[in-house]
Amino acid sequence: MDEKEHIRLIGGSANSELAEEISSKLGVPLTPIEVKRFNDGEIYCKVKNSVRGCKVFVIQSTSNPVNENLMELLILVDALKRASAKEITAIIPYYGYGRQDRKAEPREPITAKLVANLLTKAGVDRVITFDLHVEQIQGFFDIPVDNLEAIPQIAEYLLDKKIVDPIVVSPDVGGTKRAIRLAKLIDAPLAIIDKRRPAHGESKIMNVVGEVKGKTVILIDDIIDTAGTISKAAEVMLEKGAREVYICASHAVFSGKAIEKLGSDAIKEVIVTNTIKIADEKKIGKIKIISVASLLSESIKRVYEGLPLGVLFEGIYDRLAKKR
Ligand code: R5P
Repeated sequence: MDEKEHIRLIGGSANSELAEEISSKLGVPLTPIEVKRFNDGEIYCKVKNSVRGCKVFVIQSTSNPVNENLMELLILVDALKRASAKEITAIIPYYGYGRQDRKAEPREPITAKLVANLLTKAGVDRVITFDLHVEQIQGFFDIPVDNLEAIPQIAEYLLDKKIVDPIVVSPDVGGTKRAIRLAKLIDAPLAIIDKRRPAHGESKIMNVVGEVKGKTVILIDDIIDTAGTISKAAEVMLEKGAREVYICASHAVFSGKAIEKLGSDAIKEVIVTNTIKIADEKKIGKIKIISVASLLSESIKRVYEGLPLGVLFEGIYDRLAKKR
């Protein structure tokens, strides 16, 4: 793209590698910013070059440390608004607090909605994100939200591996739609695990709907956080006679003992994306990271030019059809 035009790209602290990858794919340099902390921990952000009249794209996942990254994004947007940016698009590859999407018990907050309010109030005009925990979060905003998906890229990777006798398994009932989507794209059957959560951060497998015996299981979730859900599911799949277990997820939160659990012999390979920056020490051999940079850079280009995003996946769908 012609960098003289009124487009500006800004990479927040959360995932500078992804921001740089997007910048190089678009041929648009990152606008320099200064981010620092005051002695009391308050964040200071300054955009170093003019953004007056520009369409600005700020790339910032609200991943761990979620409050720091969210606050940095809000402050950057405020700075851009006050600097007369024409339009501000928040590219939030991982939307933190997305799992707090409903009031399940009395006196609970709906923090995913609060975050949407904060972003809108700060001055965001549009959001581009990936695989929201639940699609309804789009409705928490009264501005356009493009919720892109990583599943077609994951599907292509799996088809290229030519996995023998695959079956796609959802680790919980809530993820069934996601698993159906992957199963269709790779033309595989489906099974569902009935998982319950006795308390926050705890999970219990009650039942498996479907036959996984002798099959190569592909477990798909949106998020791997502590890896408790997925590692327990992998063990149960092997107990039920599965041949091997692959794990896929869009967002590699990888907190607590996640890497230890993913290292277990029960898991053959872990396929994730780079919506969240993965620290080098967490990149163990069996983790395959698929980049979302191409999809995001094409989305930025299309939003900038006022073109629809629906066609973004056409190329990959054609390739998948040939590979099935
Ligand atoms: C829950 O509804 C999500 O889809 C994931 O299953 C969950 O966040 C994974 O968390 P963990 O890895 O800590 O079990």
